[in-house]
Amino acid sequence: MQAPRIELFDWLLQKAPQATHNLAFSNIYGLTMQEYKALSGFQLPDDFELGSNTQYGADVLKKTLQTLYDCEMSNIVTTTGATEANFLVFSVLLGQGDEFLIEQPGYQPLWLTPEMLGARKIDLPRRFEDVFKVDVEKLSALLTRKTKLVVLTNLHNPSGKMMDEKTLSSIANIALEFGAYVLVDEIFLHGSAQFLKSSFGIPNVIVTGSATKIYGLGGLHTGWIIAPQEIASLCQRLKAHTTGASAHTSEVLTAHVLQAAHPMLIKRFQERAKPNLDYLKKWMNAHTEFFDWVPPDGGIICFPRYHMKVSSLDLCTTLFKMQKILINPGSFFNQDGFVRMSFGCELPLLQDALDALEKGLQHLQFNR
Ligand SMILES: Cc1ncc(COP(=O)(O)O)c(C=O)c1O
Repeated sequence: MQAPRIELFDWLLQKAPQATHNLAFSNIYGLTMQEYKALSGFQLPDDFELGSNTQYGADVLKKTLQTLYDCEMSNIVTTTGATEANFLVFSVLLGQGDEFLIEQPGYQPLWLTPEMLGARKIDLPRRFEDVFKVDVEKLSALLTRKTKLVVLTNLHNPSGKMMDEKTLSSIANIALEFGAYVLVDEIFLHGSAQFLKSSFGIPNVIVTGSATKIYGLGGLHTGWIIAPQEIASLCQRLKAHTTGASAHTSEVLTAHVLQAAHPMLIKRFQERAKPNLDYLKKWMNAHTEFFDWVPPDGGIICFPRYHMKVSSLDLCTTLFKMQKILINPGSFFNQDGFVRMSFGCELPLLQDALDALEKGLQHLQFNR
């Protein structure tokens, strides 16, 4: 098996160290230890054993997730980030010759990983003109007896649009007629401006998540799968072949802050992200000469369409060279003509970055 390169990651890793303005990453800025202690009221005790290891996930984390998702312990598999969570789900459900539907535009690993496993990708369009909604009728036309999985994100990466409960239930019902599961990657769910319930509980829905994006705990890299029992147990068995056990200390630290302060973590996120989004909305309204867009439903990412007749890779590369501003080419999300921008940094940094973006775009337009 040969692992395909993920262009998005290569781009981020190569460029980020030299970027003056970074609107490319999709996480809110991280929690400091001081914030962590204040929110959780927890500190690792002196006699905490750093040698502890729990193959089936730290009990305290599983109990916390059980409350958050209103599920049984047997529905939970803890993982190293949503990356491992998604990998386990794909590996359990997809093999050579199977088909999976993947929203497009989308997040590259969500089709490159299953393709690496030998599965066949079927594109499920989420069109700009339809405000990135899934066309449920189109979806049923794409499903076949070979379809084993429908892959969605909520909020949608890259557009930041939410999918309501009704749409998700109808997608799941249609998938069920074909004997397929639906994977909903909910890593951005609690970034939604309006409270969104997890889709776990619909019989053929599997959700994945992690503490890396919205809660500012990327360094702990705790993730999870919440799945119907038959899938959770297969993922747990497979995990013995990937990480064996995830980092126990990270799981304990994640659990304590989620348990004590989940609403506060969301509040912290919203207090930072909302003013940024308000600012960005004004900026977009004032710069219709460069972009049109579908405003996101909260979160920290958006996917505007630019007017310039140039590939998204060329545009982003030129802007990076001129202004040291890092944004992501839409082509990495399988949609050229767009860029993915995030707004999770501190507001003054966002303001500076948007000034730099304006200068760069003005220069490019003037010199064409
Ligand atoms: C939709 C989606 N899923 C998963 C991940 C990876 O998550 P993690 O950092 O928890 O491994 C990302 C990262 O950007 C993402 O956007």
